[in-house]
Amino acid sequence: MMTAMGSGAFRGRVHLPFLGLAFFLGTFGGLALAASLPLTALWRGEIATSWVEHAQVHGHLQAIGFVGLFIVGVAYRMLPAFAGRPLPHPALVVPSFWLLALGVVGRAAGQPVSGSPWGAAVFVASAWAELAGVGRCAATVLGVAVPAVRSGRAPYWPFLAAGTVWFVVQAALGALWITALVREGGTVIPVARNAPLLFLQFFGVHLMFILGVGLRAFPTFFAAGPLPASAVQRAFRATQLGTACVLAGGIARAYGLEALWPIESLGFVLLGGGLIRATWFTGWWREPSRIRTASRPSAYLLQPAMAWLVLAGALLVGLSLVRGAGGEPVRTNELDAIRHIVGVGVVLSTIVGMAQMILPEFAGERLLGRQAAWRGMAFGIALVVATALRAGARLFAPWLPPAVVWWSMSLAGVLALLVIGSLGYYFVRGVRSHHLVLEAAARPSAGRAGPPS
Ligand code: HEM
Repeated sequence: MMTAMGSGAFRGRVHLPFLGLAFFLGTFGGLALAASLPLTALWRGEIATSWVEHAQVHGHLQAIGFVGLFIVGVAYRMLPAFAGRPLPHPALVVPSFWLLALGVVGRAAGQPVSGSPWGAAVFVASAWAELAGVGRCAATVLGVAVPAVRSGRAPYWPFLAAGTVWFVVQAALGALWITALVREGGTVIPVARNAPLLFLQFFGVHLMFILGVGLRAFPTFFAAGPLPASAVQRAFRATQLGTACVLAGGIARAYGLEALWPIESLGFVLLGGGLIRATWFTGWWREPSRIRTASRPSAYLLQPAMAWLVLAGALLVGLSLVRGAGGEPVRTNELDAIRHIVGVGVVLSTIVGMAQMILPEFAGERLLGRQAAWRGMAFGIALVVATALRAGARLFAPWLPPAVVWWSMSLAGVLALLVIGSLGYYFVRGVRSHHLVLEAAARPSAGRAGPPS
């Protein structure tokens, strides 16, 4: 990989290690914990410190280990094509992979044993490795995104640039706060500090990348017409102002200024409104008429994903207003439910749908006639049910028996694990059978099915 950095083969395969590791960590790490943590809580009947440490490890493995690595790998592969220019600083790509990998694996291995000196050292080192990896990734991605934003060519670029900046900010805050935590002898990031980190990961990073790619691709898929640039810019500005307010309010609360929660709530209202408005331009409710029939089942994952995003935006606005009127911030269980609507409903569904539509490993499957139509539908239905079970269990927890809450969550985890595990299997199969795809593409009859995109 290192030697062939400037070659076409490197450009075509740059995403493979990122996605390979993402599938591994997502399936055997984050989602295995997602399915097992609720049952542990149910059987033990209490939430021990080690449970919270593992819940934080689950969150990090999912948010950075699966989604983060996926975003970085796909960005390295797709952004040069979006921008029509090569990836700048290609020498940073390989170090960014190893640093991110060390960061995420070190966090998963170090945090649960961070009561010991070695565990604490690994926990802290992992956070700084992650910051170094994210910094290298940001230098590369911003090298493409900033000139594109400056040229004002397309209104989706600011979302991609902002997502990259927030990626760095959350990694820097994480490194500082984890270092402070370990110095004080703690093993669990306190809720007040964890909340702004998680907020940035979901709303600053994941959703900005999804909206960036979505605003570029979905209007075409759903025949929605060209993007109205100034209206998209207004939606973008609302999301950024909202994110900045939530972050400012969250950091103030992390340092004991509890009374500043209204800034956070105002931020949620702006952000929620901006997200709903931005989603509008994708035209997600229309028939995906511009997508080839063979890829269409995967597009049916994108529609629920956008519907969940509208719901998440509406909940941010509605709950901030309702709770604010009662003189309190949005509650922790409500934020957890919204995060999982975003994490499972929006992010996992979009990744599963888009991966099958745009990655060559899956396009090759279609060419070989291996991608059955049922798969897109089955994945879509499984993720809708998983989102409803996971988010519903937390949102309605005050009115449900604990056994129902924990069993619903565990079932949601199993469903998500089956989807991501299967997609990972098909991805590896696509990588391994790449030579068959090239042979099939070279045959004259391949023209009927179309080349891999
Ligand atoms: C359906 C699958 C999932 C299940 C069953 C699940 C389950 C859980 C559980 C039990 C917790 C502990 C918090 C609590 O309820 O008290 C949690 C927290 C969390 N989850 Fe998930 N989760 C799932 C999917 C995801 C996904 C896809 C993401 C990210 C993309 C994610 C990110 C997080 C984060 C960031 C936290 C907070 C961890 C912390 O406190 O630092 N989860 N999840």
